[in-house]
Amino acid sequence: MGLLLGIESSCDETAASVVKDGCDVLSSVVASQDELHLEYGGVVPEIASRAHLERILPVVQEAIKKAHVLLEDIDAIAVGNQPGLIGSLLVGVTAAKTLAWMLGKPLIAVDHVVAHLWAPNLSGASIEYPALGIVVSGGHTSLLLLEDPTTLTCIGKTVDDAAGEAFDKAASILQLGWPGGQRIDTASTKGNPVHTLPRPKTKGTRPDFSFSGLKTALLYGVRGNPKKVNGSMVFPHSAADLNDQEINDWACSFQHAVVDSIMNGVLNALSNNTVQCVVAGGGVLANSLLRTNLEAISSQFHIPVHLPQSTYCVDNAAMIAGLGYHLFMNGQHESLSITASPRGIAS
Ligand code: KG4
Ligand code: ZN
Repeated sequence: MGLLLGIESSCDETAASVVKDGCDVLSSVVASQDELHLEYGGVVPEIASRAHLERILPVVQEAIKKAHVLLEDIDAIAVGNQPGLIGSLLVGVTAAKTLAWMLGKPLIAVDHVVAHLWAPNLSGASIEYPALGIVVSGGHTSLLLLEDPTTLTCIGKTVDDAAGEAFDKAASILQLGWPGGQRIDTASTKGNPVHTLPRPKTKGTRPDFSFSGLKTALLYGVRGNPKKVNGSMVFPHSAADLNDQEINDWACSFQHAVVDSIMNGVLNALSNNTVQCVVAGGGVLANSLLRTNLEAISSQFHIPVHLPQSTYCVDNAAMIAGLGYHLFMNGQHESLSITASPRGIAS
């Protein structure tokens, strides 16, 4: 009674996965759309939903095949139905509903952001509650107090850009390409944090984040202060004027500023709340500096820190099937009238 098919299509990854008993990944197939959005420097919602339509069935078939099971062996179907791009989400939700109806199996709706915090379980973590959950992705930067895997309170979040979005914009300013996070990370390993960039703080005592000003500070640092010429803003320099070492130094300085901001929020949250462990998830958890800093918390606060392995940082369906199993075991499933929502429970 523990074989779940997970389906994920909230942004620009079409993914399906078969997971046994919530943690044992039998297959995890992710079809990335990076090449389709590359020339636009960001995800184009209409292109994403059309690509999901083309890919969803082959991806599900591949996940079933790689798991060496039959569709009929699946006990329940879990789908990420929120938050995300509505057109993209609807493709996965419709596929999941159709399969659930066709096979006569329960349908389980999973919140994508909360599922990111299940990802460490896929590599053998044993999460104890209450836990501090840290979600850092392309769409979210949130601190969550978790009573159990799905009961949570948001205690801090970004008031403007998400950290992943800030990495992507920084890579664009430095002309490193898209998606930017991995490129900034790689450039940083060859650079030094020689530039002083702000660690923006929000008003009040809540551990909220803000990355928009930091991005502007990088823009002005790299390209100089803009002047208005004939009604439009013109920058005196371009990233093309910089040599490789200068680009790497800016990337490294930016990465340090983002990671310091995240860590300030995390330390604030840990100082004001008693938790059994820290659990983190989301695409930005692939970042080497963030991982090192989060791992260091363990000895400082004497609590375990559970990070996802790199395969399960970015969007995937194994985390959906995993959290889906937890909900399934708690008797939660949906009628075929469920739909998708751009907003989730953690935002
Ligand atoms: O979780 P995810 O796949 O999608 C959302 O749910 O938003 O996260 C994607 C984000 C992108 O913004 C990407 O640039 C960022 O994760 N990312 C990284 C790294 N790898 C991916 N950011 C910083 N360092 C990395 N190594
Ligand atoms: Zn995500």
